Amino acid sequence: MLSIVVMISGSGSNLRALLEACDNPLFPAKIVAVGADQAADGLAHAEQFGVPTFVVEPGLFPSRDKWSEMLLQNVKYHNPDLVVLAGFMRVLPESFVSELSPNLINLHPSLLPAFPGAHAVRDALAAGVSTTGATVHIVDAGVDTGPVLAQREVAIAAGISEADLHEQIKTIERALIVDVVAEIAEGKLILSERAN
Ligand code: GRF
Repeated sequence: MLSIVVMISGSGSNLRALLEACDNPLFPAKIVAVGADQAADGLAHAEQFGVPTFVVEPGLFPSRDKWSEMLLQNVKYHNPDLVVLAGFMRVLPESFVSELSPNLINLHPSLLPAFPGAHAVRDALAAGVSTTGATVHIVDAGVDTGPVLAQREVAIAAGISEADLHEQIKTIERALIVDVVAEIAEGKLILSERAN
């Protein structure tokens, strides 16, 4: 059974998809804790499923390094096999990444390497492309630059708003992250073989 810590910053709909999947006894992974960088709405999903949570806010620490040390300590306390960033909206320092790599993956709302960063959906619309999508990748020291594990496409309807397109992508993301976690848990996707 693969044990997972999920980290979020926001509404946590992808977290909820993972919690629901892991609730099935036949699913090969379990969520041992959910972490956040703020009092994120999505923490309520974890509480509903009886999963422990932790919040480590950067503003309470004298430096980014001290913050990430504490975040790492909280993650490691739960001794996960895998850490999933599901809408965790902060860039993690290299020391944090290297400590967990390659067992640290991120979900991103574009077809990377296109449109990295915090405004992927807006950037795809502004570029006028006809297709975007979702990516799960191994986290490396860059921003959304690590090895791609899986992607799914979403066609962009003419005139669609950023919010509606993001919702459409999130529907795809929820299925994608559950499938990728299952493949890792079943040994079909071996992260050490996919890392650069
Ligand atoms: C997702 O689109 C994820 O790819 C991005 O932030 C969003 C999180 O959505 N990094 P939610 O909080 O899981 O609903």
